Amino acid sequence: MVNYCNLCYLVVIFLPLLSAFNLTEEFYLETYQILSGLGNYVLPVNNDEYFPMEETDEKTNATNWNGNFDFIIIGGGTAGGVIANRLTEENNYKVLIIEAGHPYPDPAAVLGLHPYFIFTKYNWGYNTTEQKNACLGSINDRCMCPRGKVLGGTSVINGGIYSRGSAGDFNFWEAIGNVGWGYDDVLPYFKKSEKCQIDRDLLDQDFHGFDGLQATGMAEDTPILTEAILEAFNEIGMPTLDYNGESSVGISRMQLYLDRSFRTDTAYAYLKSILDRVNLHIIYHALVTKIRFDGNTARGVEFMKDGILYFASAKKEVILSAGAINSPQLLMLSGIGPAQELRKHGIKCIKNSPNVGRNLMDHMIFPGLAYQINSSYYDNVTLEESLQLWTEGKRPLNSGAASGGEVIGFLKLSNDSYERPDCEIFVIGPPSVGGLLGTMLGYDDFYAPLLGSLDPSKTILVGVVVAHPSSRGTVKLTSNDPRDYPSIDTNFFSTSDLQTMNSCTQKALQVTSTQGFQKIGAQLIPMPIPECDDVFQQYSEDWWHCAFKVLSVTFYHHSGTTRMGKSITDSVVDSNLKVHGIEKFRVVDAGVIPELICGHTNAAVVMIAEKIADEIKREHKAPSPRSQ
Ligand SMILES: Cc1cc2nc3c(=O)[nH]c(=O)nc-3n(C[C@H](O)[C@H](O)[C@H](O)COP(=O)(O)OP(=O)(O)OC[C@H]3O[C@@H](n4cnc5c(N)ncnc54)[C@H](O)[C@@H]3O)c2cc1C
Ligand SMILES: *[C@@H]1O[C@H](CO)[C@@H](O)[C@H](O)[C@H]1NC(C)=O
Ligand SMILES: *[C@@H]1O[C@H](CO)[C@@H](O)[C@H](O)[C@H]1NC(C)=O
Ligand SMILES: *[C@@H]1O[C@H](CO)[C@@H](O)[C@H](O)[C@H]1NC(C)=O
Ligand SMILES: *[C@@H]1O[C@H](CO)[C@@H](O)[C@H](O)[C@H]1NC(C)=O
Ligand SMILES: *[C@@H]1O[C@H](CO)[C@@H](O)[C@H](O)[C@H]1NC(C)=O
Ligand SMILES: *[C@@H]1O[C@H](CO)[C@@H](O)[C@H](O)[C@H]1NC(C)=O
Repeated sequence: MVNYCNLCYLVVIFLPLLSAFNLTEEFYLETYQILSGLGNYVLPVNNDEYFPMEETDEKTNATNWNGNFDFIIIGGGTAGGVIANRLTEENNYKVLIIEAGHPYPDPAAVLGLHPYFIFTKYNWGYNTTEQKNACLGSINDRCMCPRGKVLGGTSVINGGIYSRGSAGDFNFWEAIGNVGWGYDDVLPYFKKSEKCQIDRDLLDQDFHGFDGLQATGMAEDTPILTEAILEAFNEIGMPTLDYNGESSVGISRMQLYLDRSFRTDTAYAYLKSILDRVNLHIIYHALVTKIRFDGNTARGVEFMKDGILYFASAKKEVILSAGAINSPQLLMLSGIGPAQELRKHGIKCIKNSPNVGRNLMDHMIFPGLAYQINSSYYDNVTLEESLQLWTEGKRPLNSGAASGGEVIGFLKLSNDSYERPDCEIFVIGPPSVGGLLGTMLGYDDFYAPLLGSLDPSKTILVGVVVAHPSSRGTVKLTSNDPRDYPSIDTNFFSTSDLQTMNSCTQKALQVTSTQGFQKIGAQLIPMPIPECDDVFQQYSEDWWHCAFKVLSVTFYHHSGTTRMGKSITDSVVDSNLKVHGIEKFRVVDAGVIPELICGHTNAAVVMIAEKIADEIKREHKAPSPRSQ
């Protein structure tokens, strides 16, 4: 099966290299611990770790006081960390972050190692429910559903791809009733967050920010390969462009969350440098179990830490940033959700809000177009050499997307009046396929043997994604006990998304016969899929649909479960992300995304948090920091 520790053998010799890069021995040991622990670590299946071993009275009500703050942020993740930074710029705002996860692990800086983090304590370890039309190649027909449990949240364990979405995506948000979220409104916030380090010749410079907090970068080209792949896509009508620029319809080298070599997640970019602000308080490894209300006004939160239940109160606002799975769970546990659902679990209804936990969206990837090429790459380097190369800002470990990220692009096949692309295509190259990518996608299922049979140094993989899926899923409670994980039904491919996936795939397949692909001797490797091969003619439409259902996995862009919109009948929060019908309470995370963007969600989540932080300051009329 998967060799989790194919990199572990290099440990001791590496110390001098790290110190040359000003990295500590701890860094090295921690990396080793992460890699060596992988085989044994068992992901949790509930939240028992926060609770007392035996039942106590404290479970029912918090008597332990943890102070009075202006703002309490639930979850110091991708969005929560950004908000915490911006709000604590105001000296007179006292801010508390309550984070269920652990402090930031330094080895997360090595972006190329990200798939391993899925098998550590930095992941909540969720799975989807059994699926009918997707994840059929996985054990129990379910997909895994990793979420970051760490300061910086999911941005710390993600693939590091920087992709904002197209202008039309945000104009669509505005058109469906979200005032202030059109492209012209959001672009300044994308730029505000960004410290772009990408070669300016490759950019539409007007669309990038150069002095924000979060660096973006690019891995250097893989000799011959990167150029050849770009050329192949040019030949099928996708021009090379900056997909975070004026238009996203075309192909590009992958833009990444990188500061030279270092991954720039929210913890790195927004929190590490402000941990000593006296008005910022962070409590780690503490599980928020309930938001408490006075009538319709949020007053504070209850949280469980080391078996003790605490209460902290918020004078100005409670900000829920627990992510698209945990935020709806916490809303429902606190009495805000579909009345019927609350009744079912015996939870007192504070506000009947029918859309809490509904409208779950995600991007599905079909990773089944694998090509063998006629030369090998990066089979010359051991882990120690890879890490040394990493300190010099070189591949393979300074690339994202399972360390083989090469190019990414977007296609428009249909007539969409908002000019939004329909498909994403990305290419992952050596050494990830069968190696790190196999680890990430196939820990216990179909992919492990399939990808494991490919030579990682000689394989490239063309991934295809439906940009705007119409399938909608749900996040529901399984009980009224905060110890229990919620149930996550992504309900993939329940609509015409299979047809769209097929159109995108057929277009992507055109690269097979391009000169660009011939240059690298790329040959499509037929994927054996017994479930489909036995029933359908290979490469017939039915076969493709079957292949998508069996092989597709998710991109982990969960969103929409607390979507923003006009009223409580169509959404959970308004366009300032205030919870409909409740005072002093916002949700700010990927859950508020009303319709998936044609891109990856991290940048949009950071943008949303930057924009709302400004709005919060405006509403609470904060004096500017300089006037203090
Ligand atoms: C494996 C993987 C790869 C991905 N790759 C990319 C990529 O390459 N590019 C991209 O743009 N996007 C990517 N994404 C998606 C992107 O990372 C997420 O959309 C984004 O990080 C979500 O941010 P968030 O603020 O909504 O939630 P999170 O960042 O998950 O933050 C939620 C925080 O709240 C904490 N929390 C939750 N519940 C509680 C509680 N009850 N009490 C206290 N704290 C709590 C969590 O521990 C966490 O820190 C990827 C995601 C995954 C899982
Ligand atoms: C290491 O630290 C020294 C002194 O602080 C600094 O001058 C040097 O640039 C650092 N090296 C690297 C690779 O960051
Ligand atoms: C998720 O699935 C894996 C593999 O089947 C299993 O080991 C794990 O316990 C599951 N986790 C949850 C929370 O169901
Ligand atoms: C919990 O404590 C709060 C504050 O003291 C109180 O208002 C509330 O009624 C208590 N709830 C229960 C269930 O005892
Ligand atoms: C390893 O191979 C890659 C390309 O396959 C090359 O760019 C790199 O320089 C090589 N590294 C070493 C240490 O030889
Ligand atoms: C888009 O719609 C217009 C008007 O309905 C039509 O003329 C055009 O051919 C369509 N284009 C595509 C690609 O379908
Ligand atoms: C790969 O194949 C192409 C096309 O046949 C050829 O030009 C190239 O030299 C080959 N590369 C190697 C390393 O064999």
